[in-house]
Amino acid sequence: MLVEDTEVGCDLYLRSHVNGYPRYVLFCRGDEQFGSDRKGVLLERNIDKLYILSKDYNNFFKYQERNLPNILSNNNLSSREKSHAVYHVAKSLTKEILQDISTAGVDLDRVKNWVKYTIGFILNDENAFSSLLSMTSHDYYTYTHSINLSVFGLLFGKHLSLGTDSLNTFGTGMLLHDVGKVEVPIEILNKPGKLTKDEFEVIKRHPEAGYKLLKDKENIEEKSLKVVIQHHENFDGTGYPYGIGGDEIDLYGRLSRIIDVYDAITTKRSYAGSRNPFAALQEMREGMISCFDMELFKEFVSFLGPRSSQIIKDDGGIVCLKT
Ligand SMILES: [Fe+2]
Ligand SMILES: [Fe+2]
Repeated sequence: MLVEDTEVGCDLYLRSHVNGYPRYVLFCRGDEQFGSDRKGVLLERNIDKLYILSKDYNNFFKYQERNLPNILSNNNLSSREKSHAVYHVAKSLTKEILQDISTAGVDLDRVKNWVKYTIGFILNDENAFSSLLSMTSHDYYTYTHSINLSVFGLLFGKHLSLGTDSLNTFGTGMLLHDVGKVEVPIEILNKPGKLTKDEFEVIKRHPEAGYKLLKDKENIEEKSLKVVIQHHENFDGTGYPYGIGGDEIDLYGRLSRIIDVYDAITTKRSYAGSRNPFAALQEMREGMISCFDMELFKEFVSFLGPRSSQIIKDDGGIVCLKT
């Protein structure tokens, strides 16, 4: 993950053992260049892991974010390692967005760049699908859910042969679709058990809240905003905020509805356990089929169905794709 001739921005340590105890030795300071000489030392000694201080996590992910194109084009890295970088960059980026969205301090170019590089990875690496899926987290936090949606959206969009521009717009909308939840009190968001009617009314404001937070930002496309405002609209007109239906809902809105429900069902939420992908598709078909655009739902099943039996959750909350 370290790109030659860059400054990492945080101190890197080597781990050794002294009398059976681990000991960490400074290897490269954050403000020094990580050059070929240092890389050579690591290769020579067969060292493939370095350590950082936990306080430097964010600095390191920012470094990965800056170097994502280099990381993704590095032929020495496996698809899995690249997926790690894609996922971790998205994680720190999305957390930051959710913290700062209300204060206007969000640079949407960073989101768009992440989407752009992730698309490049998906289009150029045939193992991207399984390795990215194995990274999608199955604990329900707004940020992990947002990353899952963007990753699923891009993979499904590719299956539907959407062009690169469309994937960019759609993936950006998916990553940002729930930003309005920053305005929902956390007690309601994470409430175990059923929501009261009033609490549900509060939740229902999040698409409009997200739209308002984003609409005046530079560089956000109208089509990305469609995902934000329409991802809870149902095809039969029973959704919110506007209760529009059928073709009144933009293609991206209809797509996001399917993927949003799928991710919610397959994810461990505060009020319910998770379902396996096959059971999730079944639940969607049997319990709420009228909410979805049938043609798109069929496509979603054919996109995911053959793979759904391969997606196994482990106890660590991670989905593994059997190869
Ligand atoms: Fe939502
Ligand atoms: Fe959502």
